[in-house]
This record gives sequence, C-alpha cells and structure tokens, in this order.
Amino acid sequence: MTSVIGDGRPAVAVLGLGEMGSALAGALLDGGHPTTVWNRTPGRDEALVAKGAVRGASVREAVGAAETVVVNVKGALVSREVLDEAGDVLAGRTVVNLTDGTSAEVREVAGWVAERAAEYLHGQVMTIAPGVGHPDAAVFYGGAADVYERHRPLLALLSGHAPLVSEDPGAAVLYGMAVHGTMWGLLNGLLHAAAALRDEGIELKRFLEHADAPLAALWGFLPSIAAEVDQARYATPYGALRHHLPSVEDLVRESRGRGIDAELPEYTLSLVRKAVEQGRGGDGYARLIDHFTGEG
Ligand SMILES: NC(=O)c1ccc[n+]([C@@H]2O[C@H](COP(=O)([O-])OP(=O)(O)OC[C@H]3O[C@@H](n4cnc5c(N)ncnc54)[C@H](OP(=O)(O)O)[C@@H]3O)[C@@H](O)[C@H]2O)c1
Repeated sequence: MTSVIGDGRPAVAVLGLGEMGSALAGALLDGGHPTTVWNRTPGRDEALVAKGAVRGASVREAVGAAETVVVNVKGALVSREVLDEAGDVLAGRTVVNLTDGTSAEVREVAGWVAERAAEYLHGQVMTIAPGVGHPDAAVFYGGAADVYERHRPLLALLSGHAPLVSEDPGAAVLYGMAVHGTMWGLLNGLLHAAAALRDEGIELKRFLEHADAPLAALWGFLPSIAAEVDQARYATPYGALRHHLPSVEDLVRESRGRGIDAELPEYTLSLVRKAVEQGRGGDGYARLIDHFTGEG
C-alpha cells in the first residue's frame, strides 16, 4: 500500500471535489500530504492538480494511492456508492467521511466500511468552504478513539476545533444537527423580530447595539437549561412559564397588529399555554422539552 512519502505526511485521497471537497483537498495539499483527487464529473480538479495534486482516473486508483481516504459528496448513502467503486482496494485503509447525512445513514455506511476491513471516522463539518483550515472552524468527529488519535495531525489541517464527540460515528452528525437546529431557531426568532423592527423603521444593527447585553446573556443561560433538561428538574423560583405566557401573548398580538407573520410566536404560545394548562406554569422554560419528546 502506498503510505508515507515526501516529508512523512501520509498519502491521502479526496473523493468529491465540490465546494467543500475542493477546500478540504486544498488544505491537505497545503499541509504537505501527497494528495490524489477524484471527482465524478471531470474538470473540477484542475486548480488542485495545478497545486500538486495527482488526478485519480477512477475511485479505485485514487483509493489505491492513499492510506487515508477523505470522502465529501452529496449524501451519506452516496458516499457508500462511491466507496463501493474502490472494490477490495478499500481494505486496510482509513475512511474519513465528511459527508452529511442522518445518524442512521452514517452508522449504515460505517458498518459497511467495517465489513470491508477498513477503518472509519465520520466528521461533521461546521464551517463553510472558506473556513476550512481556520483556527475557529469546527468539525465534530465520531469513531474509534485510536483511529482518531492517529489522524489528529491530518484533522488539525482541516479545522482548529476537531473534537471526538463519540465512538459512534452517527453521533457526530447529530451534534452538527443540534447546532444547526439551535442556529435556525435563533435566526428565525431574530428575523421575525427584524420584521417588526423594520415595520417601526428601526434597523437591526441599531437594535443589536442596544440589545447586546440581554442577547449575550442568553448564552450564559444555556448551562442552566442543560442542567434542568439533563436532571429533569424544572421547578424555578423566577422566570417560570406562567411569567413567559403574557410576554408571548404580547408578541403574538404585536405581530398580528402590524400585519407581520405571527406563526412563529403563535407556535411558541401554543407550547407555553399547553404547559401552563397542564399545571406546569411554575416550571422553567426547559420544561417544554416534554413537548418535543412527546411526554407533554
Ligand atoms: N459547502 C459547504 O459550505 C458545506 C458545509 C458543511 C458541510 N458540507 C457538506 O459537504 C458535502 C458536499 O457539499 P458541497 O457543498 O461541496 O456540495 P457540492 O458543491 O454540490 O458538491 C457535491 C459533490 O458531490 C458529488 N456527488 C454528488 N452526487 C454524486 C454521486 N451520485 N456520485 C458521485 N459524486 C457525487 C459531486 O460530484 P459532481 O461534481 O460530479 O456533481 C460533487 O463533487 C455535503 O454533505 C454537504 O452537506 C458542505
């Protein structure tokens, strides 16, 4: 098997040269890894080849030239189809799959790779392509600790934060989805607020200047939410759901009165009102976890 050449960095293959795959391959090349690249559609490798990458004529050839195989295509199950083209050459190598999918899909791919006598790490990339290699960028990894430890120098070329979150590859994508879900919830709330503020002629930038302190306090609030959720203990002396209720009702009426879409606060109102009607008005906001788990 081709392994260590040049300055001692192991040879890698990158399968998939879309926006993200090209950035990953570029970072590995810059980090001194002999890099063979392959993409389904020809012509997307020219800049990388000009930088020193080797063009793999097939998946099998690219995988055969590498010790570690980085995969970045569209969809976890597609990554398995691509790796299948390597045939028996996959055995003995390490797959670092940075393709998004559900946790079940990722576990399926990981099991399929293990059956072919190859090692597997799954990474959930939490940055956009220009962020690859940046100290602030993060990738969540799931897989065997020894495989992760051996690949740390390579992973460090891709992101400044590269935690192994679990030995279960599927958990890595769940961490990613948890961040994305939190982000979308926050952004939806902010954009709804922006609509009301704009209706009043207030720019979002001006709002943020004045609201900086209470918004920053939200992040400090998260550990107490985590403690309540993890311990399933929700009783709180202050800020209970019954105190949230009139504020959410105000936001719904304000939205309706301005003629802006009220669906988002109405949804929040339905959750808070239901919990209060169920006698949980003295509990903290974290009690709404029961709605999402189906227990409330
Ligand atoms: N772009 C980002 O900012 C970003 C951020 C985080 C995570 N990701 C993840 O990274 C992965 C790639 O995303 P991207 O943004 O780079 O996508 P993209 O620019 O659309 O590229 C998709 C890549 O997948 C390949 N592909 C798609 N279907 C294929 C198939 N059936 N067989 C072989 N190759 C196939 C494409 O090959 P062709 O060139 O032949 O079409 C291309 O190389 C996704 O899982 C995405 O969610 C992306």
